[in-house]
Amino acid sequence: MGRLQKILIPFLGLVLAFCFYSARENFKPEMLKGKRVIVTGASTGIGEQMAYHLARMGAHVLVTARTEAKLQKVVERCRELGAGSAQLVSGTLSHHTLTPAPLLSGGLDMLILNHVGKSYFSYFDGDVRHIQKLLDINFLSYVAMTVSALPMLKQSGGSIVVVSSMAGKVGFPFTVPYSATKFALDGFFSSLRQEFSIQNVNVSITLCILSFIDTESAVRAAADVLQMSPAPKEECALEIIKGGALRQREVYYKYTLTKIPLLLRDWAAELTPSLFHFRNNSL
Ligand SMILES: NC(=O)c1ccc[n+]([C@@H]2O[C@H](COP(=O)([O-])OP(=O)(O)OC[C@H]3O[C@@H](n4cnc5c(N)ncnc54)[C@H](OP(=O)(O)O)[C@@H]3O)[C@@H](O)[C@H]2O)c1
Ligand SMILES: *[C@@H]1O[C@H](CO)[C@@H](O)[C@H](O)[C@H]1NC(C)=O
Repeated sequence: MGRLQKILIPFLGLVLAFCFYSARENFKPEMLKGKRVIVTGASTGIGEQMAYHLARMGAHVLVTARTEAKLQKVVERCRELGAGSAQLVSGTLSHHTLTPAPLLSGGLDMLILNHVGKSYFSYFDGDVRHIQKLLDINFLSYVAMTVSALPMLKQSGGSIVVVSSMAGKVGFPFTVPYSATKFALDGFFSSLRQEFSIQNVNVSITLCILSFIDTESAVRAAADVLQMSPAPKEECALEIIKGGALRQREVYYKYTLTKIPLLLRDWAAELTPSLFHFRNNSL
């Protein structure tokens, strides 16, 4: 190898590594300052943590969920943490729900769709009605909120952030109804993103692929079955906000537990079940 190549190759590697990391790391909390953000499903779990991060960054946050008492506490904490403003809208979300009226007046920069209806963590029980109900909460309400928020998001050059799961990218046992609703999100939002690009609609869509996260509901449902330890909801919430603010197409968290196995999915589908470490006979 010539001397030039000996120098050039490591140099190119360094440049590439620099570009890769600088492109990934240019998030600044000030990006959210003064932005008007809706977080659905923010009474607990990842949504609650997203509200706190946004508050610390000085955003105007509007949180939604069914349980008003919990939302009230989240709003109080958001104000303590320095939110530009904090308000709540309580109620169940389905395809009948239009974006709550107070949001419409002030404009909107970011819509974070995160809420999820209760399902079971077990073999598919044949209950079709349950799938219909879950599709309504986990999928159709995301569509309805997007449709009603779109005029505001177009005006602001805003962002839609959709919280999905590994189970929305690859088939999973014990989460048949849930997985179906999360796959639907990918079909809808990934297609819509392409139409926005063709039509020069300046609204970004970020789909978030999450692994097992340590929220109360997930740990209660899956800790006995999944052999991996859950990742922290605080860090997860921050990664979602970063990805939305940077207008990334997709967010993978934890990266090694999502992106890497998904690279295998299309090459060696028969291997994927063994990647997820289910305990034998746990159900
Ligand atoms: N935790 C994980 O391991 C994990 C893994 C992959 C993906 N995710 C995704 O991450 C997101 C957040 O998960 P999480 O674990 O933080 O969930 P969570 O703690 O169970 O919180 C769910 C939120 O949705 C609200 N909600 C439930 N049903 C609703 C309805 N019908 N209408 C309106 N709001 C409703 C809940 O509040 P109320 O009960 O007060 O309504 C709550 O605020 C979900 O989209 C989930 O699929 C989570
Ligand atoms: C799209 O919106 C973003 C964020 O609001 C803005 O920074 C960017 O300049 C806009 N792009 C175009 C082409 O208008």
